[in-house]
Amino acid sequence: MTEESALFQTYARNPLALVKGEGSWLWDDQGNKYLDFMSGLAVTNLGHAPKKVGDKLKEQIDTLWHTSNLFVIPKQEEAAKKLAEVAQADAVFFCNSGAESNEAAIKLARRYFQKVKGEERYEIITLGKSFHGRTLATLTATGQDKVKEGFLPLPAGFVTVPPHDITAIEQAINEHTAAVMIEMVQAEGGVYPLDQAYAQQIEQLCRDKGILLIVDEVQTGMGRTGAWFAHHRYGIKPDIFTVAKGIASGFPAGAMIGRAYLKEAFTAGSHATTFGGTPLASSAIIATIETMQEDRLPERAAAIGDLLMNKLRERLHGNPFVKEVRGLGLLIGIECAEPVSELVMAGQRRGLLFVSAGPNVIRLLPNLYVTEEQVMQAVEIVASVIEEKVPTPSA
Ligand SMILES: Cc1ncc(COP(=O)(O)O)c(C=O)c1O
Repeated sequence: MTEESALFQTYARNPLALVKGEGSWLWDDQGNKYLDFMSGLAVTNLGHAPKKVGDKLKEQIDTLWHTSNLFVIPKQEEAAKKLAEVAQADAVFFCNSGAESNEAAIKLARRYFQKVKGEERYEIITLGKSFHGRTLATLTATGQDKVKEGFLPLPAGFVTVPPHDITAIEQAINEHTAAVMIEMVQAEGGVYPLDQAYAQQIEQLCRDKGILLIVDEVQTGMGRTGAWFAHHRYGIKPDIFTVAKGIASGFPAGAMIGRAYLKEAFTAGSHATTFGGTPLASSAIIATIETMQEDRLPERAAAIGDLLMNKLRERLHGNPFVKEVRGLGLLIGIECAEPVSELVMAGQRRGLLFVSAGPNVIRLLPNLYVTEEQVMQAVEIVASVIEEKVPTPSA
């Protein structure tokens, strides 16, 4: 960015200025066209400017934008019913972002024990490599030191243990533990899907110890991983889970979702946010869910995600720079031997936008309507920028 920018320079910004989007395509201010395989970081799951969501937003803009959560908001009630139904859960609290949805989850877990169960439980156990947001509580929950630098003192009540070590969780649980909080695929941390057996062991441990299981589905939810929520694919049933990013196709919104028995912990006045579930946000959420239902997008993401994964594995097989291709649905990581930032720029020069997850992992996040042809195009560009750096011996 230019020196004259009036913004705090909190982002290492790519100089590209994107000004128009349609479906899988974006255009910059010079008229160049790009195939979008990052979807605004797992947000524009229906592609850019999806018509039904846009139409519903326009209709709502002409009717009513905002009242207040002091009143009944019929659209919010409708959005909550639809979300609870597809999420296979009972109660919803709407907010505005992923971090805020995780804050709500942490608060609900503490309040459930302290107000309903009468137990002094407050500690949340999280996993190394996790990412839960940038507020003080959620960055403390995050299992990566880089987000914590310079922000001391951090709030108390969080413990991080290494992932894929059930004994570490067991040993960390004590009389003050309220919950274990996990991502089904550690996305920002490098696209690491949890092993199914490990995830099920965590669930069982939480049941045995009488503590809550919280799943952060901010990046993995809303069809991204080939199911409405990634934990549906794992066969586990968290007490609380969170969602944001894809929930309203790019309109800012988030939600915390929970089981019926937690309702009595969040009583009037216990938690609030001005903009949560406004008529506008709720319209975007309803239209997003309806579109996903009509077009069976979670199933589509599972099938096309398998295709993308298989094609990448085939095409990159034997390349010494590529250590692993992994992921779930349309959240795919290519772990490389060295940092990938220059590959991201090389892809961009060839008209493909993608992003990294940590220094060495290429992350692909196309929208859920991505076509087979676009998948093949992207695989070709990703493979060619990798092979330019390190050729495949037999290629
Ligand atoms: C798993 C996860 N949790 C929480 C967040 C934070 O969401 P937000 O940036 O909307 O606050 C993110 C954002 O990348 C995320 O991937």
